[in-house]
Amino acid sequence: MEELDLSAIEPILDKYCGQEDALITVLQELQEIYGYLPEPALQRLSRRFNVSMSRIYSVATFYAQFYLSRRGKNVVRVCRGTACHVRGGKDVLSAVESCLGICDGQTTPDYRYTLETVACLGACAMGPVVVVSGKYFGKMTPNKTEALLKTI
Ligand code: FES
Repeated sequence: MEELDLSAIEPILDKYCGQEDALITVLQELQEIYGYLPEPALQRLSRRFNVSMSRIYSVATFYAQFYLSRRGKNVVRVCRGTACHVRGGKDVLSAVESCLGICDGQTTPDYRYTLETVACLGACAMGPVVVVSGKYFGKMTPNKTEALLKTI
């Protein structure tokens, strides 16, 4: 496992040091660097801000925007909402799982992909919907999904 470079977080810790009410902002900025919140970075934050790890984890786990494990370069989100489900969303999800070899919530070993399911992606008329790294793809079928993933 490669060593985590913590030097990049020092300017952030310096900028907000002593401002305990800036904890969420600091976590957001740390996540921008790594794509998630690595434990060594949180330990350094804990020491520098004199805030307990349990307090940091309680904040980091409360908000859905924070991730505690490394995610893939491409996040593939598949809708499992009712409108998508009745149009074949389950088959689309199966196609993604079989293409990537991972299940909901998992990341490929090479960190290229993370697969997530979502209750509704807010584009029900386009269902079944798949979102890859923020870009929406509608009226998906298993074949279209496999073709899409091959282009990434
Ligand atoms: S149910 Fe799938 S986008 Fe709303």
